[in-house]
Amino acid sequence: MGEKLIISIDGKACACEKGEYLLQVARRNGIFIPSLCNHEGLEGLGACRLCIVEVTRGGRTQTVVSCIYPVEAEIEVQTQTNSIVEQRSVIVALLARLAPQSQTIAQMAKFMGADLPRLAERPGGDKCILCGLCVVACEQVGTGAIAKVNRGVEKEIATPYHRPSAECIGCTACANVCPTGQIEYQQDEQGVTIWGRYFDYVACAACGKQFATAAAWEFSALSSASEAASVGVGADAGADAGAGAGAGAGAIGQGRTGVVADADALPAPPLCPECQRQQVAEWLASSSGRYGNVRVAMKELAGE
Ligand code: SF4
Ligand code: SF4
Ligand code: FES
Repeated sequence: MGEKLIISIDGKACACEKGEYLLQVARRNGIFIPSLCNHEGLEGLGACRLCIVEVTRGGRTQTVVSCIYPVEAEIEVQTQTNSIVEQRSVIVALLARLAPQSQTIAQMAKFMGADLPRLAERPGGDKCILCGLCVVACEQVGTGAIAKVNRGVEKEIATPYHRPSAECIGCTACANVCPTGQIEYQQDEQGVTIWGRYFDYVACAACGKQFATAAAWEFSALSSASEAASVGVGADAGADAGAGAGAGAGAIGQGRTGVVADADALPAPPLCPECQRQQVAEWLASSSGRYGNVRVAMKELAGE
């Protein structure tokens, strides 16, 4: 655990750990700072600039971007000074012109009293503010199916050559993190369409619930098998454990994204996260007499 600090945000004493990002500390303490390109669980990007605040440290005051500002000392923070409010209204006006079809940003601009008519709209502008959060989410998933393409006013988020991507697994993480609703997807009972591709859902073999696309399940199962292989858990071990590392894991080759390429090595049957957890818990409970702890069990499974 990191060093504890007490900082002041708008006069409120807030406890945090050294290195924690200022926006997170404010949120945890119920202090609202406007933001668009920040999502819990993903690194701050500092792209939209809406989360600016004033920080005073050692008698010196500066404007910082709170989602990428790590707290290193006992600072004083002001989130609503006249200067900050004015700067934010200019920023939101620029964002509104960059993404003229975004209702979210239009409402924020209205709320912040932004002066929109002075600025020209981005030609062909949609709802995208080009923050890159969707790209980061996709990278985090491990697929890297989308990217920023083109330059200048042509810049946009897309799959390669705007074609349905073979890398995409239809997980919808990109759409779910997008702050403006730019990335759309359509669901029906059997699956989901996103980025121009249709993905079938897969049902859990234990509870029957449709819990992911088949492509996302395969990707996650094969990635787990690959990880198991890289830490030395043998082919039979995963099958014995029934914990996700499938037969053949030790022999599977890696693809470009680290995804294993041998489709025959897919673990079966598909299980939703809840049923997987339950299965692992049951396995650990039934093994508790044989194994003193999980580490010993894993070593035995790996044949060490
Ligand atoms: S739906 Fe496709 S593009 Fe979006 S995060 Fe998942 S893999 Fe990436
Ligand atoms: S699609 Fe959404 S998340 Fe992706 S860059 Fe545009 S606004 Fe940001
Ligand atoms: S939320 Fe901090 S820059 Fe966008």
